[in-house]
Amino acid sequence: MKWKNLKVEKNPQPPVEDGRIGESMKVLSFGSLNMDYVYTLDHIVVPGETESSTIRNVFTGGKGLNQSIAMARAGLAVHHAGLVGEEGTPLIEALEEAGVDASLVKFLDAPTGHTFIQVNKEGQNSIVLFGGTNQMVTEEYIDEALAGFGKGDLILLQNEINMLDVIIDKAYAKGMIVALNPSPFDRKILACDLGKVSLFFVNEVEGSQISGESANEPEKILDWFDANLAGANIVLTLGTQGAWYRNLDGARTWQPAVKTEAVDTTAAGDTFTGYFLQGWIQAMPISACMARAAKAAAIAVSREGAAPSIPTRDEVE
Ligand code: RIB
Repeated sequence: MKWKNLKVEKNPQPPVEDGRIGESMKVLSFGSLNMDYVYTLDHIVVPGETESSTIRNVFTGGKGLNQSIAMARAGLAVHHAGLVGEEGTPLIEALEEAGVDASLVKFLDAPTGHTFIQVNKEGQNSIVLFGGTNQMVTEEYIDEALAGFGKGDLILLQNEINMLDVIIDKAYAKGMIVALNPSPFDRKILACDLGKVSLFFVNEVEGSQISGESANEPEKILDWFDANLAGANIVLTLGTQGAWYRNLDGARTWQPAVKTEAVDTTAAGDTFTGYFLQGWIQAMPISACMARAAKAAAIAVSREGAAPSIPTRDEVE
C-alpha cells in the first residue's frame, strides 16, 4: 500500500494539567449511526446455503454511535456528529440516554444506515453494512459540525462515513487531536493523510493491511508503526488474546483479554476504544486504561447487541 505523508514527528497530544485534561477540552465523535438487524443462527451461512433464524433482534449501533456511547458511559462529555434518515429517532434517543450531546446529528430525507448481522452459537458475527445517510456527509456539514471545536479538542473517527480524508484534514488544520479507528478497512483509507493522526485504534487485520506485515506477527506491525508513523500512539487489539499499546516514545504495554462466555462480539472493539480513550485523555496510567477497556469489552461480549451491550462505568468498576 502507498500511504500519504507517513511521518515520524510527534502529533498533537492532550494537554495534561495535574493529570487531567484541561477543563475546556471538548471531544467530538464524528461517525456512523446504524440500526442493527441481528439474526441468531447455528452457523454463519456459506455461499449457496439457506439457514433459518429463529431469533431476530433490532439494536442501535454503528461504530460511531457505539464509541460515543462507550466514552459517555466511561464518564466523558462527548458530542456526536453524524447523519440519520426518517427511522433515525431511536439512534438519537440512545445517544441522549447515554448522556451524549446529539445536537449536531442531522436528519436527511434518505434511509438511515443499517446492518444485517448474523451471530452464530459461538457469538462470532458477520456483518453486511448499508451506509445510507452515513455516506451522505458533505463539506458544508463537516464545516458546520467542526465549527464549535478548535485547537486542543479531540475528534474520534471511524471508516463508516464518507469524506473521512476531508474531515481529518479540516480537524487537523484547526489543531484538533485526531484519533482514528480505520474500520472497516477499505481503499478509502488510502486517501487519508495518516500522518495527521495522533492515536490509532486497529485490530490485527487492519494493522496488517496498513503495514503489510502478517496479522499473526503483531509485534512486527508495531515495528512498522515505529518506523513509519511514530508520530502517533497506537492501540492494537488482538481479539481473545488481548491488546498492545505503543506510545510516542516507542514504549509498549501488553494487556491480556479478560476471559468471558461470548454471547455476541458485536461492539466489543468499540467498547474497548471508548473506554480506553476516556482514560487516555484524562491521563489515567496506561496500564489502568488498558485493564479497564479490556474489562468493559469482555462485558460487552457477554451480552447481546451493539450499543445496549456497552456497560456503564459502575458495572466495569
Ligand atoms: O462495530 C460494531 C458495529 O459495526 C455494529 O454496531 C454495526 O452497526 C457495524 O457498523
